Amino acid sequence: MAGAELIGKEEIKEVMDVLKTGVFARYAFDNERKGIWKVRDFEKAFAKYCGTTHALGVTSGSAALKVALTALDVGPGDEVICPAFTFMATYEAVLEVGGIPVMADIDDTLNLDPNDIVNKLTPRTKAVIPVHMCGSPARIDKILKVAKKHKLLVLEDNAQGLGASFKGKKLGSFGHMGICSFDHYKTITTGEGGMVITNDLDLYHRAEWYHDHGHDHLSPVSRALDGRTILGFNYRMNELQGAIGLAQLRKLDRVIAAQRKNQAAVMEMLAPIRGLKFRAVPDPEGDSATFLAFNLPAEEQTKAFQKALKAEGIDTVRFKDNFWHYVPNWEHFLARSTANSKQHPFSDPRNRKVTYSRKAIPQAEDILGRTLIMGISVKMPAARMKALKKGIDRAAKAL
Ligand SMILES: Cc1ncc(COP(=O)(O)O)c(C=O)c1O
Repeated sequence: MAGAELIGKEEIKEVMDVLKTGVFARYAFDNERKGIWKVRDFEKAFAKYCGTTHALGVTSGSAALKVALTALDVGPGDEVICPAFTFMATYEAVLEVGGIPVMADIDDTLNLDPNDIVNKLTPRTKAVIPVHMCGSPARIDKILKVAKKHKLLVLEDNAQGLGASFKGKKLGSFGHMGICSFDHYKTITTGEGGMVITNDLDLYHRAEWYHDHGHDHLSPVSRALDGRTILGFNYRMNELQGAIGLAQLRKLDRVIAAQRKNQAAVMEMLAPIRGLKFRAVPDPEGDSATFLAFNLPAEEQTKAFQKALKAEGIDTVRFKDNFWHYVPNWEHFLARSTANSKQHPFSDPRNRKVTYSRKAIPQAEDILGRTLIMGISVKMPAARMKALKKGIDRAAKAL
């Protein structure tokens, strides 16, 4: 639960600043807002934290993906390679812009396998979306290399990995664009919200214009007199979200430090179990430690261990069973059941018919069948740790 565990007087103070002005909109009302620009300040602080030149606050991580894909000019006829293990929003966003998501395999990091990108390439492939699942980096260096060779755009879906890094550089800042989510479950939260980051001014402008009906925000006079070159929509973050985001961002390093400490303690409990391995982390210093993933040699053994842990009151997820984070389990997606009765964009003749067979992702089928994932909290008091240790030791006897 991370940042949501630490909501307190700092968030209340920031929100009160906004309530006192009565201006919840991020743009305009210059006189009434009395110098309070929370979303703008949050964006600046967020870009600085991530080491990028630009950040754009939006209404959700899903919106951030759509805004970024639009800025990147991904549309009908374009294919986007996405990992088989991700939250549905990654695929939904590609469909939202009229493109077609192409499912690729994962490796032992549980993230997109750089070696599988070439297997999924077609002349229509325009972009790749590495997703840093459960707070830990994909092999982003290798992914970037393959993408560069094949002239692919890279959009990092870092909804789950805020604060994580690879070799000292924050995740989300490697690709042409990156996104983050602040929904209630994420490393920091604004209730709902998201951020788009980039080092490219043109991409930032396109994203910024698109997210606010095409307003170019360049007029010093008034919002009504703004210039406009492209049509857009409304994905604006509001000042209350910006205010909470500012307070939460200041707590982010504390969140990560606490999670890392707790994750290390749980790893120590699990380490003696014969055959148990932890998920590969390309840069262990860079894990945000929101989760702990470990695997056993065989699927049946993993299921038995999960059952034994459950009997001890310890919840884990085996993502091969999960309905929201593993493509082969999305029956509505596989049936092309979009909100549109014509099944847009699958019916669009510009889009190639793509299949989503388990056979195309043998590593995901194997690894996700043998992997258990446990949530790590900021607050894991001694009594809880003690109970965990007792439960793990007892469950281990079932192996
Ligand atoms: C990998 C991933 N991408 C995108 C999203 C979408 O974020 P939001 O819930 O803010 O729309 C999520 C949310 O769970 C996610 O886990």
